[in-house]
Amino acid sequence: MIGDRMLPAHRFSVAPMMEWTDRHCRFFHRLLTRRALIYTEMITTGAVLHGDRARLLGYDAAEHPVALQLGGSDPRDLAECAHIAEDLGYDEINLNVGCPSDRVQEGRFGACLMAEPGLVGDCVTAMKARVVVPVTVKCRIGIDEQDPEEALGALTCAVKEAGVDALIVHARKAWLQGLSPRENREVPPLDYDRVYRLKAAHPDLLVVLNGGVTTLEQAVAHLDHVDGVMMGRAAYQQPWRLLEVDPLLFGQPAPVATPKAAAEAMLPYIERELEAGTRLHAITRHMLGLFRGVPGARAFRRHLATEAVKPGAGPEVLAAALSLIMDSRVDLAHIAA
Ligand SMILES: Cc1cc2nc3c(=O)[nH]c(=O)nc-3n(C[C@H](O)[C@H](O)[C@H](O)COP(=O)(O)O)c2cc1C
Repeated sequence: MIGDRMLPAHRFSVAPMMEWTDRHCRFFHRLLTRRALIYTEMITTGAVLHGDRARLLGYDAAEHPVALQLGGSDPRDLAECAHIAEDLGYDEINLNVGCPSDRVQEGRFGACLMAEPGLVGDCVTAMKARVVVPVTVKCRIGIDEQDPEEALGALTCAVKEAGVDALIVHARKAWLQGLSPRENREVPPLDYDRVYRLKAAHPDLLVVLNGGVTTLEQAVAHLDHVDGVMMGRAAYQQPWRLLEVDPLLFGQPAPVATPKAAAEAMLPYIERELEAGTRLHAITRHMLGLFRGVPGARAFRRHLATEAVKPGAGPEVLAAALSLIMDSRVDLAHIAA
């Protein structure tokens, strides 16, 4: 369960992104949308089991609903990590079957698991046996020379049998040799039809589409074919788009009226975090794309980028950057144009 409703938030989610969707980013995104499901960065089972758990898994209660993404392929370790995460209050546990980095391949997890649907099924079975919160999988349509019809079909059957609660599909292949992780997000062509067909073939499975969705209008169009849409880079780089999520996808008012109001709402959080030893830039780096097409947006970005990194930088840096935004009553129709 997520809150008092079964998986409703999947209608729209913000993707797990290493180095990007840390807890500061997620807190900020939550000020822009109450309803989107937000994902952590991928955290490996090794890190959860042996690392600094408070640092790796700590989050603010305001972030709910928040899903933890795990990287790993040992069913027992994954089950243990899922249990730890559930205890900490995470609303969902997600398994990464899509990351193509060399480091991840060496650990035999991430996208290379597309070649081992049976093992992915075992991982899901083991996690489901230990937690009551939803267990989901994020995958690709295939890897390397795989035929996406077969590869995605086999993975889907394996995880369904294991009782997976949702399958999130990045609608392109990953090439494990020769392409960097970044290229693997851009070069292999998007195949939305493959994801639509998957949903048509498995109407009882909650299917979320990911990859290349850059506007909320596109998200709405995909929802004619799938249960949910996950947005990654566009949500991070242009976070103002998240202000449209609650009105457009959930029929509820946005939590704040303007991007500027969201930024101002960050000030108490920033004060709290600075007192706890966080550096200002660690928080404000996620806010650089908040304004677009608004007079002063570039000056805002520049001020934050140069001043927030300085030792001792405090909330006044954000306040000063905000004062460079000309129109305090920016309305969404204007910036969305
Ligand atoms: C900086 C960055 C880090 C990422 N890290 C992860 C990750 O930790 N786990 C994961 O499943 N996908 C990761 N991804 C992939 C995204 O979750 C998403 O699948 C991909 O960006 C495609 O969606 P988009 O076109 O909406 O950005 C990352 C993407 C970016 C840009």
